[in-house]
Amino acid sequence: MKKKSVIIIALVIVIIGFFTWRFIRPMEIFVVDDRFAYPVDTSEVPPVLGDLSAETCGSCHTEFYREWRTTIHSKAFTDPYFQADWKFEDKRDSCRLCHTPLDRQQPQTVLGYRDASKWDPVLEENPNFDSKLQHEGVTCAACHYREGKIVGVLDNVNAPHPVKKLENANEVCVRCHVVDGKRWDTFYRFPPCGTVAEIQSSKGTVKRSGETVVQDIASLGCVDCHMPAIKRPLVEGGVVRNARQHLWRGGHDPEMVKKAFTADLFEVALTKKNKRKFTFEITNTGTRHYLPTGTPDRYLSVNMKLLDSQGKVLKEQYHKLIRKMMWRPFIIDLADTRLPYGKPRQYSMEYSTGEFNNAAAIEVKVRYHLVNEKRLKRINYQSKEPIDYEVFSKRIDLSEAE
Ligand code: HEC
Ligand code: HEC
Ligand code: HEC
Ligand code: HEC
Ligand code: HEC
Repeated sequence: MKKKSVIIIALVIVIIGFFTWRFIRPMEIFVVDDRFAYPVDTSEVPPVLGDLSAETCGSCHTEFYREWRTTIHSKAFTDPYFQADWKFEDKRDSCRLCHTPLDRQQPQTVLGYRDASKWDPVLEENPNFDSKLQHEGVTCAACHYREGKIVGVLDNVNAPHPVKKLENANEVCVRCHVVDGKRWDTFYRFPPCGTVAEIQSSKGTVKRSGETVVQDIASLGCVDCHMPAIKRPLVEGGVVRNARQHLWRGGHDPEMVKKAFTADLFEVALTKKNKRKFTFEITNTGTRHYLPTGTPDRYLSVNMKLLDSQGKVLKEQYHKLIRKMMWRPFIIDLADTRLPYGKPRQYSMEYSTGEFNNAAAIEVKVRYHLVNEKRLKRINYQSKEPIDYEVFSKRIDLSEAE
């Protein structure tokens, strides 16, 4: 008997200890995998590329520079939301590997890792650290510089710097837009920020088993949608080529989000005389990933209201299209009401004309939310820009619709 209770007590202590450790240790929502475990080595930069800064590239590629400046990539380090979140995460070194991926952008060099999941780097002061370059975040060279050469997809360019041809332009995106890796403690369909896995699942090419294997890079389509095609010279006075605008619009751009879906509000004929029914239908027609995608912070809200002639709400529905995850002690998908590509979603409201004989209009409004208010409070961040905005609205006057 005694021996048994000792074992039970020991077991309980181990379990409590385990859960306590899972709750107090820093949050590791992904594995630092080989794709981005080490910063990009820039030790062999040819003299023509100077300090590797975006301005240097921009001195020849003016248009590309001007576009990049308007994007969140150029603010991947200075973005106040990133800064607040990073501080909340104890400024962990691994965040730098995507938000400032060049070795010169990092005050310390990663020499190796102490642990298998690569969250505990061995660091050494970096004499080549360039703080101005750090502030450029995902700068030109983050995507274009590899082993002394500039990578691109064009043939036969006549450049003053060495160039190397990429098989496919989407290769560039995969380094940072897949956050995944083999681990034992996750139970989800897509990794957090699972844009690539979402696209592959819509084609049925991925069965989740703990790791996103990027297949068929050409068919991902990231560049087709996020870098609009344009014919223009690469440098002033150069040959006109098939180029792409460096715009990467996403959740921060209402016009881009509006392109992601088609939606309508309409009346559905009912046989019952004293009832009316209205349906709002929304379909993700403009992405190949989910809407919204990216960090699980993002969500859409659908608000449907039955109003009287004074604008007073008689009946109301509110839906959140969101991915809910549990982070501790394990990472588990709780619910996912976001819109997969191509599958229509309907929300309906029915009312009795007897009960609401003063109903004057029905209205639906859809808003995009970059982040939820609770999370901002938790990381103690106040956004200067609005964190949500309207992307769709329609109102039907009920007297007319009858
Ligand atoms: C001194 C001027 C100059 C500088 C500085 C310069 N480039 Fe270029 N680059 C060119 C010229 C010229 C071409 C070829 C234009 C053509 O043939 O149409 C070119 C071509 C390219 C291409 C196309 C390669 C391909 O195969 O698709 C890329 C990408 C590129 N540059 C990126 C960069 C980046 C990134 C930087 C900064 C790290 C940079 N360039 C700095 C002049 C420059
Ligand atoms: C070196 C890492 C890196 C690479 C390579 C990269 N991205 Fe990003 N991307 C980021 C980071 C980091 C952010 C978020 C920055 C922030 O909000 O602070 C981001 C944000 C975005 C956004 C969101 C814009 C918004 O408004 O929120 C889009 C779209 C995007 N990237 C598309 C692409 C595409 C397409 C490619 C390939 C051509 C690509 N990215 C390559 C790191 C990268
Ligand atoms: C997020 C990754 C990313 C960043 C940052 C980036 N580029 Fe590009 N760039 C690409 C990709 C991908 C292509 C190939 C597009 C295609 O299919 O033609 C490209 C192509 C180019 C080309 C060749 C013309 C073309 O469109 O193919 C030039 C020149 C160029 N980039 C210059 C720059 C300069 C200058 C900067 C910084 C101001 C920069 N790029 C920043 C991803 C990036
Ligand atoms: C058919 C067009 C299309 C393709 C293909 C596509 N996207 Fe998008 N993407 C969009 C649209 C439209 C949005 C805006 C709505 C949204 O956030 O889902 C968007 C949004 C995004 C965002 C913004 C999320 C945020 O947090 O703000 C990121 C990041 C992104 N896409 C990355 C990618 C990457 C990486 C790929 C390739 C693996 C890709 N996209 C392929 C159309 C596309
Ligand atoms: C594997 C590359 C990668 C790593 C590592 C990484 N990020 Fe990101 N981060 C991204 C990309 C790509 C985006 C934008 C697209 C998206 O939402 O998925 C992003 C977006 C963000 C955003 C949203 C910014 C906005 O404007 O809404 C925050 C905040 C952020 N990251 C914080 C962090 C922190 C903190 C860490 C370290 C714990 C970290 N990231 C590590 C790639 C990375």
